[in-house]
Order: sequence, then structure tokens, then C-alpha cells
Amino acid sequence: MESDVAQTLPRIGEPAPDFEANSTAGTIRLSQFRGKWVMLFSHPADFTPVCTTEISEFARRNEEFVRRNVQLLGLSVDGVPSHIGWTRDIAGLTGRPVPFPIISDLDMHVSRLYGMLHPGESNTATVRSVFFIDDKGVVRALIYYPLSTGRNVDELLRVFDALQLTSRHGVSTPVDWQPGQPVVVPAPATTEAVLDREQAEAQGLDYRTWYLRLKQVDPNS
Ligand code: BEZ
Repeated sequence: MESDVAQTLPRIGEPAPDFEANSTAGTIRLSQFRGKWVMLFSHPADFTPVCTTEISEFARRNEEFVRRNVQLLGLSVDGVPSHIGWTRDIAGLTGRPVPFPIISDLDMHVSRLYGMLHPGESNTATVRSVFFIDDKGVVRALIYYPLSTGRNVDELLRVFDALQLTSRHGVSTPVDWQPGQPVVVPAPATTEAVLDREQAEAQGLDYRTWYLRLKQVDPNS
């Protein structure tokens, strides 16, 4: 592969580019998952150690994604027979099948659409990318990791929790937010809308300063 291969990078707030690809679940289109959130993630290569720990853990914790209406979709530039052999190996190692499709992107058309090829890291393999796509097919967040750094499932779930809660309640999440903790309400947009401490507290807000107010929301509402 040439090192300056033409790629696009989907951006936050833009439609996730649709594609059709072969996978361990047959031919799939991204758009067939509309109505579900999707975590589209790439790994560098089948039968490699860090990727094996990641896929094993994603499989072990798949139900936690399913409870959040999230469909996992893996991807690498390996062929379907390789994916099948590797996922059977993982099932043998862990006693648990891999319950989500892994896309075979041999011609790299999905990798290029999603900017997953970083030649400074590898000319032949996708980096560890993660795209958080909402139930309407919009990119809501993306994270890239180098080949040497395995991902953290707690953080991936936390991002889905934050995205889903903030969408429902029109709020934001502060640093190190965890589900159940207070969220940030929008800062006032006009001088007239500014509340003093007393007014904010009367509305149940935790007032830190005029532009930083937090509140508790019911995570299930
Ligand atoms: C790994 O999964 O261990 C790995 C894959 C590609 C390059 C380096 C490490």
C-alpha cells in the first residue's frame, strides 16, 4: 500500500458513511443497523496478542453493549476465513463465542472511508479506531489508539452512557463523569438568563459559578 493513500475521516455530527462488506455474519451494510447505536472498531490483525485480548473482552462484555442498544462491528483487512479461524480459536481459549460480526476489509474500502489507515503506524494494518455511531447513523465520537495500546471496555461503555444520557437530557458530562453522577447544565446564553447562587439552588442546581451548574438526572429517564 502506498503511504499517502487517499482517505476520508468522518467527523463528529456527520452521517457515518454507509458501506457494504463481507463479514463473519455474511454481507452486511452499516445502514441495516439503523435504530441501534453501533460501535464500529478496527483492529490491526487477526491472530495477534493484543487484538486477541480485545476481542475476547468485547465478547465477554457484549451483553453490556446490547443492554445499551449498541451493536458491535469489528473490522480488519484480513479475510473472512482468517476471521473465522481466529474467532474459533478465541472461543476455544475463552469458552465463549464471539457474538458480533467482524468485517473483512481486504480491499480496504471501509478502512479508507473511516481513516483507519495511519501509515506512520503501519502500512499494512488498520490502527485501533473506534467510531460511536448513533441510532440515526450519525458519528457521535471517535477514538484512535496505536497498535501497541489495547482499548478499555469501561471507557467505551462510559462514552456510550454519556452520549445517550446527554442526548436525552440536553446536558453535558464533566471530567471523569461516571453514570449516576451529576451532569452539567448549559451555561446561560444571555445576561438576562444568568442566575445567582440562591436562584440556582432554588431550582435544585449545584451552583459553582454563573456558567458552571450541575444537576442530578435520573439515568433511566
Ligand atoms: C497485537 O494485537 O498484539 C498487535 C497487532 C499488530 C501490531 C502489534 C501488536
